[in-house]
Amino acid sequence: MVSETFRVIQLSDTHFLEEGGSAEGGFAYDTAEAFDAVFDHITDNHNADLVVVTGDVADHGEPAQYEQAARALGRFDIPVNICPGNHDQDAALTVGIGRPGIGTSSVVNADGWCHLFVDSNAGVMLPDEHGRHIDPVETADRLHRNGTLGAREVASIQDTLNTTSAEHVFVWVHHPPSCPIPMVDDANYASEWDALLTAFPIIKGIGAGHTHIPDKYQLHGREVVVAPSLKHNFDLEAQTWLPPGYWAYDFHADGTFDAELHLVEDTRWPRRPFGRALMSLFQGEITHTQLAEITMRRQQPSN
Ligand SMILES: [Fe+2]
Repeated sequence: MVSETFRVIQLSDTHFLEEGGSAEGGFAYDTAEAFDAVFDHITDNHNADLVVVTGDVADHGEPAQYEQAARALGRFDIPVNICPGNHDQDAALTVGIGRPGIGTSSVVNADGWCHLFVDSNAGVMLPDEHGRHIDPVETADRLHRNGTLGAREVASIQDTLNTTSAEHVFVWVHHPPSCPIPMVDDANYASEWDALLTAFPIIKGIGAGHTHIPDKYQLHGREVVVAPSLKHNFDLEAQTWLPPGYWAYDFHADGTFDAELHLVEDTRWPRRPFGRALMSLFQGEITHTQLAEITMRRQQPSN
């Protein structure tokens, strides 16, 4: 009998680093420290069934960073399932994260729901001489890219949606489609999701990450939930930094769900104002590279 509420904790953009590693972009919280605080908050406050991580598990897609991620995520005594982000590298993630209880399955079925894990980086992958689709050779070719499903991932999603016996589907994916932030606006990615959401009413919602700006918005009558990061978070309205955090979801048998945002307030992560350069990045006026140059200039001692 389907009567239970299925409870999911969503982490995203954990950006784990190897021991002594430095963060890409030049400014970040200590993600190991942020994970510990978020982990304690989750285990103190929730009795969940599943932990989801919607990508950017590692900061540079390095094997040593997945070791740290696996060690940290392995502390949960419930299953963890992951989809990749643009900071991840496909082979390193699959090999490095694999542990009993930590998976990269594309489908997790529970209580009448199909939780569908989508790779929104699949469109950047290229066929090698064996016909396998692998990451571009240059790590930078994937970093800072907007979402792109590509024909193979779209076909795979369609197969799942046409085959599932679940009554309701919830999509977990790194890049939020049609997100109202100019930095991540991408017409091609938006149109891929427009087609899927129009053709498949069985999709009841989307949980994403990527922006490091926790949010909820509507798309084709579905709620899109965007998760906070452990690396850094921002409130665009207040123009302040935000503490690390997570979403806690209740999935109900009638096809509805609730999602509640939790930010772990602490003096280590004050809600201080952020500057004009960062706002320009979010508004799509400058690139990540230009922001990194500005940040580096400011960190140099003046004479
Ligand atoms: Fe990220």
